[in-house]
Amino acid sequence: MKNNYNIVLIGFMGSGKTTIGNILGKKLNKNFIDTDQLIEKSANTNIAQIFDKFGEKYFRNLERDLIFSLKNISGSVISTGGGTFCNEQNINILKSIGKIIYLRTSYKCLISRFTNEEILKRPLLSDLKKLNNLLVEREKYYLQADYCILTDNKTTQNISDQIIKLF
Ligand code: S3P
Repeated sequence: MKNNYNIVLIGFMGSGKTTIGNILGKKLNKNFIDTDQLIEKSANTNIAQIFDKFGEKYFRNLERDLIFSLKNISGSVISTGGGTFCNEQNINILKSIGKIIYLRTSYKCLISRFTNEEILKRPLLSDLKKLNNLLVEREKYYLQADYCILTDNKTTQNISDQIIKLF
């Protein structure tokens, strides 16, 4: 396979998309793109502020526009936000530009990963009680990925190596 293919990482908050995306970008000599970082850059503020000032719907529109702008991208590892792959339009675009890898992590393991700092950065973590429901609701989207990699009790190196073997 030529090196111009894209790899798209999806999964719940805390599943390791950004960390693993970074490692994969370096190991595969690909450009690394983090969609949340691009949204923050173009909005000139952080995600917590966007949610706080304008609400989730506004953020989802920015997210949808950003995904649309990636339509012609190649040779990249793209790490998405936890809700990005839960929208049909985003799913279609992301599927058309690359192979989708779902980093699947159990609720128990996710919860153990969230530090106070992580919680502050992610508005949807403010109500931890709703999190398990959200995870269950989102699985039907996440499971439309081309590959599913279980991440519980694995190191980031181990997960990245497993993904590299797929290509
Ligand atoms: C969200 C996940 C976040 C970020 C935003 C919304 C979600 O990204 O896009 O806070 O809906 O799950 P991470 O998955 O990188 O935390």
